[in-house]
Amino acid sequence: MTTASEGAELTQVGPGTPMGRLMRHYWLPALLSSELERDGPPLRLMLLGEKLVAFRDSAGRVGVMDHRCPHRCASLFLGRNEQGGLRCVYHGWKYDVAGNCIDMPSVPEHQDFKHKVKARAFRAVERAGLVWVFMGDGEPPPLPGFEVLDLPPDEINVSLIQRDCNWLQALEGEIDTSHFGFLHGGHVDPRDVPEDDPFYYTITNRAPQYHIADAPWGTQYAGYRAAGPGKTYWRFANFLFPCWSQAPNGEFDSHMHARGWVPLDDGHTMFVFIWWKKARSAQALPQPRFKDGRPVGGTGRGGIRMLPNTTDWLGRWRMAMNEGNDWGIDREAQRRNAIYSGIDGIHLQDQAITESMGPVTDFGWEHLAPSDQMITRTRRRLLRAARALRDKGERPPGADDPGAYRAARSGYFVGPDEQTPWQEVYARTLAAAVHPQDA
Ligand code: FES
Ligand SMILES: [Fe+2]
Repeated sequence: MTTASEGAELTQVGPGTPMGRLMRHYWLPALLSSELERDGPPLRLMLLGEKLVAFRDSAGRVGVMDHRCPHRCASLFLGRNEQGGLRCVYHGWKYDVAGNCIDMPSVPEHQDFKHKVKARAFRAVERAGLVWVFMGDGEPPPLPGFEVLDLPPDEINVSLIQRDCNWLQALEGEIDTSHFGFLHGGHVDPRDVPEDDPFYYTITNRAPQYHIADAPWGTQYAGYRAAGPGKTYWRFANFLFPCWSQAPNGEFDSHMHARGWVPLDDGHTMFVFIWWKKARSAQALPQPRFKDGRPVGGTGRGGIRMLPNTTDWLGRWRMAMNEGNDWGIDREAQRRNAIYSGIDGIHLQDQAITESMGPVTDFGWEHLAPSDQMITRTRRRLLRAARALRDKGERPPGADDPGAYRAARSGYFVGPDEQTPWQEVYARTLAAAVHPQDA
């Protein structure tokens, strides 16, 4: 079990908190490159509980800094983005993307001290259509070595969706694999689904067994179910430091992706999904169908309705369905068993469930089961790393070693039976999988 004080250690990400310090050892994807226009208006950005502004200067460089002007703390969100920097509209001081004060027009020339003033700016780089921000001290590490980040940019898709709950709660929805046969497929009788559909296996045995272990990148599990004589249906998935998951929702062979659960503050998270367009992933596949050709209700993956972005601190990439409209729950569809939850769409179902727990789960309420071992192991691994950093200054896993992420992949496949050691099954299947960037 997780105590309330461990819960606080795990979920709080502000400056000076154990998990906040851990998170500040990694690059975090914060916004789409396309959200920032050259000399365009600065954008409000909440990240790790800090209020920031982001802008793109005349040369195309990205600046990310505390929103408070170092003079008298007016918000630089109101600033003028002009000729190589952001100018505060209060007294006209101007800052470049590195935070240097480059103009101090409100002070007589002989008293000018602009070379002594610096806005609190953070490093920013662009990769895969995203702006990545490093909020720690000292030299930033390399970007995480996900396979998908090495693919040509035009083969990568990225999407952002905000979630109104703590980052860990959102992430744990991803590694809570035993919910699949209920939340997403509880209304489906396996006899009605073609036996070669991956969906079939996840609902034939709704209480699958797991192997779980620590991995160089975090933690890994393999869910497995018998799939005919001498064969097993395997589902591998990963947690990766500090806030990433790789879900088993695609064919392992080509399922290159990464799913970030980036903390905006303790109660809000930005889901950042990066995936290979050519993968035979569930993302690209049509929704599961019954043998008679009808689509299985509630299992759609597209069609997510978004609200227009606003300039609020938390106004970006919000879904139209939220707690305020009960996530669009259709009680009639629930009653008729057309959709188990009555909520339409896989992503929305996950979003609704994790948001329904409240902004930050009260861990004291939980009764974790043996089927939640991936969750408990991941919490322990995170706590160990955050405490080792706090108490001994030990740098957390993967922070200095992008290669630690290289051998992480998730997905499903039918393979050798469960007598074969699971990590051997993994290594063998990974070696035989598609690796276009190594070609
Ligand atoms: S507060 Fe920004 S220039 Fe004075
Ligand atoms: Fe789910």
